[in-house]
Amino acid sequence: MGQKTIRLNGKKRKVSVPDDSQQLLYVLREQLDQQGPKFGCGVAQCGACTVLVDGKIVRSCVTPLSSVADGADVSTLDGLATDDDDDLHPLQRAFLDKQAGQCAFCVNGMVMGALGWLQGRIDTGNRSVPEPREVADYLSGATPESTLNYICRCGSHPRIVEAICAAAGKMVK
Ligand code: FES
Ligand code: FES
Repeated sequence: MGQKTIRLNGKKRKVSVPDDSQQLLYVLREQLDQQGPKFGCGVAQCGACTVLVDGKIVRSCVTPLSSVADGADVSTLDGLATDDDDDLHPLQRAFLDKQAGQCAFCVNGMVMGALGWLQGRIDTGNRSVPEPREVADYLSGATPESTLNYICRCGSHPRIVEAICAAAGKMVK
């Protein structure tokens, strides 16, 4: 069993690498107490396990820890805000304001997938607020930049789309 260091939400953390097939999701949940990323399908089809690795959207259920570079920056929903309610990220605030979730199991993927997407647009100079249709297409994996889809089994997609549009408006300001 080896060891690896990652930067989890900005802090250096050592993790054990039990074997080459250990997926990042289990390391985050079982070794690092992260409660944001969830096990949904386990086969990269639902988005519930989404995290960012060096700013890139990653399905942690199918990402072996061995493929994550030593020292990589891993961002999870747990690190988006402190416990202080005033410190919520615009996406978290918008999801609460729009009540964009029923059971909330999908919310980790919706927020982290939207974060990676919106931040990627902003970083490349695109400061437009996406239209609801664009957001819905993004969540369906039907855009040129992404074929990953994000599934909400409770049918909260319309409110999730509204929340992402509202948060995008705040993020580009
Ligand atoms: S649990 Fe990873 S995509 Fe569904
Ligand atoms: S709110 Fe239940 S799966 Fe989306």
